[in-house]
Amino acid sequence: MTGSAFSRTFFILLNPMKIDILTLFPAMLDGFLAESMVGRARETGLLDLKVHNLRDWARDKHKVTDDRPFGGGAGMVLKPEPLFDAIEALRSPVSKTIFLTPDGESLTQGIAEETSGEEHLILLSGHYEGIDQRVRDELVDREISIGDYVLTNGTLAAAVLVDCFSRFIPGFLGEEKSLTHESFTDNLLDFPQYTRPANFRGLPVPEILLSGNHKQIDKWRHERRIELTECRRPDLFSKSNESHR
Ligand code: ADE
Repeated sequence: MTGSAFSRTFFILLNPMKIDILTLFPAMLDGFLAESMVGRARETGLLDLKVHNLRDWARDKHKVTDDRPFGGGAGMVLKPEPLFDAIEALRSPVSKTIFLTPDGESLTQGIAEETSGEEHLILLSGHYEGIDQRVRDELVDREISIGDYVLTNGTLAAAVLVDCFSRFIPGFLGEEKSLTHESFTDNLLDFPQYTRPANFRGLPVPEILLSGNHKQIDKWRHERRIELTECRRPDLFSKSNESHR
């Protein structure tokens, strides 16, 4: 580790990124927090991540957090009171509140990198038909979707967002691993990887990878990235430099 990387990591350990996840289903995150690199980052003090049950802010004795929508229609809507109480209790002037919702802006590597620079995030997971619009209007800074499909609630989406942006926090990936050559940073998908044995069940590894010729290997890998992206993700390919050559 270089001197500047060391002092950056040291600074981050003294000022861990604070994350509060608000959900009705906190147990959904147990495995994620216990097993993953995010779990390790919590243990080592790189992340100060807490999960809160929204029900703890319900005001009545039955701990009700939702109600029928005004105007009619199917499903239930999360009530404003517990959400206002929870967010107002957790936030400070530096906090950013993100609502996970299928109608938010689509999560990208760029958004993940931006988010990793925040001091304190409150991640709000909705459920069923949504949350009272006044919460979105008054308390939410950003709305993010993890893809064009609808989950039963935003808890897994919050986990996806945390997992994704944590990789940009210096020190998170262990040895200062470079993020520059992976999928999406240059709008090209990653090249195929192989490891030992060189021949498995009669399936050989491409000869070039065994040659030791790193210039040729880099060329081969780059060609595979172009081929893959053009075929699977023409939308990404048209944004890459390769499509303008
Ligand atoms: N909640 C339900 N579906 C979601 C999605 N696709 N992204 C973020 N939050 C969600």
